[in-house]
Amino acid sequence: MNALSPIGLIDSGAGGISVLKEAVRLMPQERYLFYGDQKNAPYGTKSKEEVLALVRAAVQYLLSRDIKALVLACNTATARAARELREELTIPVIGMEPALKPASFLYRGGKILVLATPGTLSSEKYGLLSSRWGQHAVSVPCPGLMEFVEEGGFDDPALLRYLENLFEPWRQSQVDAIVLGCTHYVFLKSLIQRFFPNTPVLDGNEGTVRQLQRVLDSRDLLLPPGETGSVTIESSGTSEHLAVLHRLFELPG
Ligand code: DGL
Repeated sequence: MNALSPIGLIDSGAGGISVLKEAVRLMPQERYLFYGDQKNAPYGTKSKEEVLALVRAAVQYLLSRDIKALVLACNTATARAARELREELTIPVIGMEPALKPASFLYRGGKILVLATPGTLSSEKYGLLSSRWGQHAVSVPCPGLMEFVEEGGFDDPALLRYLENLFEPWRQSQVDAIVLGCTHYVFLKSLIQRFFPNTPVLDGNEGTVRQLQRVLDSRDLLLPPGETGSVTIESSGTSEHLAVLHRLFELPG
């Protein structure tokens, strides 16, 4: 492994593509290898032990491809496996967490809604984050929401109904910020924004990529000037799964 090696990114599927897009936007000259574990998705409703085993297996595959850093482009995988992976691996491991800290500065007496998977919200890691920055945060677990993104059904009436039901308790309340604590939901940002047109909707993608950049720089692992970047996208699932990843990668925005 050296600076010419790719950066590995993993998620249970399409959500991590939103992180990959941000990485390519901010560091277009790098080499990326994205792995969507769609065969084993979703992660968010599985136990810690199950997610840890799945992420370990996916990481072994990426290590066999000689990655120079690992990005857990998934809040659930980070909550369930980042600590263990940091102990086990010698390459840098960059994780994600719901953007509770920046959201806490937007507090104006209302609520801060944190949308994430049940796995993330029930994790010890999130508990710690929330005890520090989540005084006004309300956990909104969204089992079943990532599936709409995987199916690419952004105009599916069932998705609108899901969101209507999800937000019903908060429609009359003051909502100061909405935190997208799952990378899949980033693809639903404009849809979610429609329910709360004046409320900031935050995700952790840019912060994660900036952290990746800092870590690579500090270890002299940025791709040297003159080398060309590339993006490779792979899936543990079917060719249809892989097509979803490519389609979302090509989607403008
Ligand atoms: N994209 C993942 C996250 O950020 C999880 C989706 C899932 O597999 O449940 O939490």
